[in-house]
Amino acid sequence: MIQKDEVASPGSAERRLFDEIDLARLPRHVAVIMDGNGRWARQRGFPRVEGHRAGIASVREIVESCARLELDALTLYAFSVENWKRPRFEIVTLMSLLKEYLNKELANLLKNDIRFRVVGRMNELDGSVQKELSRGLAGTSSCRGMTFNIALNYGGRTEIVDACRSLAHDVSAGRLTPEQIDEETLGSRLSTAGLPDPDLLIRTSGEMRVSNFLLWQIAYSEIWVTPTLWPDFRKRHLFEAILDFQKRERRYGGVIDGGRVPESGEAAG
Ligand code: FPP
Repeated sequence: MIQKDEVASPGSAERRLFDEIDLARLPRHVAVIMDGNGRWARQRGFPRVEGHRAGIASVREIVESCARLELDALTLYAFSVENWKRPRFEIVTLMSLLKEYLNKELANLLKNDIRFRVVGRMNELDGSVQKELSRGLAGTSSCRGMTFNIALNYGGRTEIVDACRSLAHDVSAGRLTPEQIDEETLGSRLSTAGLPDPDLLIRTSGEMRVSNFLLWQIAYSEIWVTPTLWPDFRKRHLFEAILDFQKRERRYGGVIDGGRVPESGEAAG
């Protein structure tokens, strides 16, 4: 049962926005491309990494708000497979911010019954990062509330390649026939297995790209792009995104037939 006063304080501007949301039609899974940290820092004459540091406050507020809205899942794109091309100092700082966040935030994740999960090739990360991530994974494994996925060393194409490899191994070992492979089998080999696909994809800082994020899973996601830079993103922006999402007519390639909207599984192309 959503505790409204915990999501937004009574009488606040955020609360007025929140009260417009239909709680029976919330997205089950929200995915976010957190962009604009570098620009936020540059606008203030700070080094780029200060934008990442400031972005942690947004992460904290959005994770907590989504958990209090009792969403099934939130996925944040923290580090892509392409981000290794960034200057070494920026990579090292991002990784240490992540470790610091996990270290400080574990108690809060537990308090909010949030289950932490990593999507992406975790085994290629530095040992100290893997250690902190494993602590977060083990520590929250019995939580039953929202799943908080952090996409790290993640690429949508890489993820699909990994899933295909795993299926190919099963075929060559005789555990699976090619004919048994369908969307469900492939989906079950992705790092988001068991979770609903994102209903809503948010991108901050105005860019109209999906940047290799959850390529398989966002097939029917509603996309909401805001010019707000990630370090400025707060729950009022999340509420705006949800309100906009609730105005959309989701047809999954079908038609609206006597008011009946097809389910995602019945997609007509
Ligand atoms: C994109 O901004 C942002 C990132 C590549 C990293 C996001 C990471 C954080 C907010 C901090 C750590 C995350 C967690 C979950 C604790 P950009 O640098 O590409 O910005 P720009 O396009 O303005 O240069």
